Amino acid sequence: MKGLIKSALNGMAVLAFSGGMAVSQEVEVLHWWTSGGEASALNVLKQDLEAKGIGWLDMPVAGGGGEQAMTVLRARVTAGDAPTAVQALGFDILDWGAQGALANLNDVAAAEGWDDVIPEALQYFAKYDGQWISAPVNVHSTNWVWANKAVLDANGIAIPETWEEFMAAIETLSAAGVTPVAQGGKPWQEATVFDAVAMSAGGPAFYKAAFIDLDEEALGSDTMKEAFDRMAFIRAHVDDNFSGRSWNLATAMVINGEAGFQMMGDWAKGEFLNAGKVPGEDFLCFRFPGTQNQVTFNADQFMMFDQGGVVSPEQAALASAILSPSFQSAFNVVKGSVPARTDVSDEAFDACGKQGMADLASASASGNLFGSMAHGHANQAAVRNAMYDVITAHFNGEYDSATAVEELVDAVSIAK
Ligand code: GAL
Repeated sequence: MKGLIKSALNGMAVLAFSGGMAVSQEVEVLHWWTSGGEASALNVLKQDLEAKGIGWLDMPVAGGGGEQAMTVLRARVTAGDAPTAVQALGFDILDWGAQGALANLNDVAAAEGWDDVIPEALQYFAKYDGQWISAPVNVHSTNWVWANKAVLDANGIAIPETWEEFMAAIETLSAAGVTPVAQGGKPWQEATVFDAVAMSAGGPAFYKAAFIDLDEEALGSDTMKEAFDRMAFIRAHVDDNFSGRSWNLATAMVINGEAGFQMMGDWAKGEFLNAGKVPGEDFLCFRFPGTQNQVTFNADQFMMFDQGGVVSPEQAALASAILSPSFQSAFNVVKGSVPARTDVSDEAFDACGKQGMADLASASASGNLFGSMAHGHANQAAVRNAMYDVITAHFNGEYDSATAVEELVDAVSIAK
């Protein structure tokens, strides 16, 4: 007997029976994982759910960093048509939690012991008023550099340990006629670089004071001017066509040997892997010079929108699938991130992944783990966007470094 019973739940979960056998329920998932590497990782989740009898209604919104996705989400929620689940970052999750828009995941979290395996730094963003409101997928970090090994070898360049060595390596490539830095000219990408540049220029206390505490003295300091001066150096060593370039196309320039370095979060590694490249042979991963003891992190999480006061069965199943140790390993190996759970072996991870997991553990233990300003883990969106505006204006030559510092102080004081 064939029949289609439309579920009362949110209009999106459809129970389809074919031959009397329950085929699947569906989850509609809004996300911005649209690059090659991101799509490969997402397929791990889709296949995991399909094996559990849950179909996937894809709602991709292109645009790295997720700004466009959050705009579409606001429109969907305003129209009373929230997706089942949404990829989100840091303070954006807490903002939705504060609006009472998210389902309470406490039951599945308690049943599966999430409190024991998810680090405090992630729980801070996954809970509101002590309630679990999202399922942590991974931990990315932004203070990485990706390099084409053949290009560095051909120019006698070793992995730079300091900013000064990095500048010398960049100038060596420039003199050799190789594009030193592959960059996408978009605010979120320039801000991603700024995470590491600021940490490198001023160290962890400065980074925390400026981006997390919004301390006016730090924001307006000579150290901040030095950070902008370093951004100007980087700007002088990107190719002429950087403006508007998608981050994964910049990664492709390094993959193909058209450029030496990309300063980007470790989602870039997903692009190298998707292109069949091997760390240590085809490409090198290293912490942004001067930030080897710190990690600026951003965790992808899936918030589940309230379905009338209950967590729907498919939301609970999605949350459970995301937190399963096997998924946490399989997904993050492909994505370039590290597991959100602390009890997942690094056995399946390559050298860069193993370093990422070790760095996270040591930074967390030594108080050197900080939320990424660029990816919504240092402050709320209004402050982040105010910083984006100043950083991108400076990168595009509208401000010199001294003016950028003044504009940053003003912009943050208005936004916070
Ligand atoms: C980050 C996100 C990553 C990746 C990246 C590029 O915000 O955490 O998973 O999607 O943007 O789009």
